[in-house]
Amino acid sequence: MATILEVTDLCKTYRKGKLPALDHMTLQVESGGIYAFVGPNGAGKTTTIRILSTLLRFDSGMVLVGGYRVDTQPRDVRRLLGYIPDEFGLYSEMLVAEYLDFFAGCYGIAPAQRAKMVDDLLALVGLVHRRDDEVRTLSRGMRQRLGLARALVHDPALIVADEPAAGLDPRARVELREIFRVLQEMGKTIFLSSHVLRELDDVATHVGIVEQGRLVASGTVDAIRARLRPHRQVRVMLLGPADDAQVWLGAQPGVLSVELAPPNNGGLAALYVTLSGADDAAVALLAALVNAGFPVLSYVEERETLESLFLNLTQGVVS
Ligand SMILES: Nc1ncnc2c1ncn2[C@@H]1O[C@H](COP(=O)(O)OP(=O)(O)OP(=O)(O)O)[C@@H](O)[C@H]1O
Ligand SMILES: [Mg+2]
Repeated sequence: MATILEVTDLCKTYRKGKLPALDHMTLQVESGGIYAFVGPNGAGKTTTIRILSTLLRFDSGMVLVGGYRVDTQPRDVRRLLGYIPDEFGLYSEMLVAEYLDFFAGCYGIAPAQRAKMVDDLLALVGLVHRRDDEVRTLSRGMRQRLGLARALVHDPALIVADEPAAGLDPRARVELREIFRVLQEMGKTIFLSSHVLRELDDVATHVGIVEQGRLVASGTVDAIRARLRPHRQVRVMLLGPADDAQVWLGAQPGVLSVELAPPNNGGLAALYVTLSGADDAAVALLAALVNAGFPVLSYVEERETLESLFLNLTQGVVS
C-alpha cells in the first residue's frame, strides 16, 4: 500500500527556551485507511496537523503528502488535502448552499459544475434540508458536517480533521463516523485527531498515540491490541462444581493460569482462564473442554476496550 502521509523527525518549538511542541515526531499513514491520532491535551496533535496542512512552519524534519514536501511544494500538498480545523470561523450570514458554492468557486470549480457539486456534498453530509438556512443557525454537529463538506469541494485524497468529534452528542458522533466510513469507501484516506480514544476506536483502522511531541505507539488497531495484550482472558461458567475443570484447564497447553471466582447469586462459579496465542487457541480450548465432558454453560472472552489497553501504555490522560 502506498504511503500518503509521511512525517519524519519533525521538530517544532514555538518559543526559544520552551519545551518543544514536537520532538522528532515520526509517523506514516497508508492510503485508504482511517488513522486516529490520539493523545492528551498539549501532546502536539494540532501542531502536527497544522504543519502537514501547510499552515505552520517547522524547525526540522520532513513532511511528505502524496510525495510532495509541505515546505517547498505547498500548492501540490493543498490540492491533495482537505483540512477541517478544530475551530473555524464560518461566514455565518451566508446560506448553507451559498457557503459551499463560494468555497467551490475559491477552488476554481466552474459555475456550471458547482450546483450539482453542492447538491452532492449536502446529500453526503446530510444537510440537504438546511441548504437555505443561514450557517449561523446550524448546530455544532451540523457545522462540523458543513466543515467537512467544505473540505471536500476540491475532491482531496487525504482528509485531515482536528478533533472532529469534540463537543458532539453521541448521535452526532455516530453520524460523523458513518460519513468517514463513506469517505473511506470512496477511496479517501482520513486522518483524525482526538484526545479521547473512545471517540475513534470503532472507526479507525490505524492508531497512533502521541505524547509530549512524540509518537509512542502506532499500528493497526488489531496489531496494537495484540501487542498491548499478548495474553487473553476467557471466563468459563460450568453447570455444577468447577474444581475439576480448574485442574484440567491448568494442564492444557497455552494456559497460563486459571482462577476460580466465588459463585454468583445463581450459585455458579466462574473460572478465569488466561491463555496465550491467537483466536484459534481459544477456540481449540473450548472444543477440548467440551470433549472432555465438562458441562460448559458459557465461554466468553473478556475483551478490554482499546482505550483501557492504552491506559497501560501511556502515562497521560488518554481517557
Ligand atoms: N501558538 C502557540 N504558541 C506557543 N505555544 C504553543 C502554541 N500552540 C501550541 N503551543 C504549545 O505546543 C504544545 C502542543 O500543543 P498542541 O496544540 O499541538 O497540542 P494538542 O495535542 O493539539 O492539544 P489539545 O488536545 O489540547 O488540542 C503545547 O505545549 C502548547 O502549549
Ligand atoms: Mg489540539
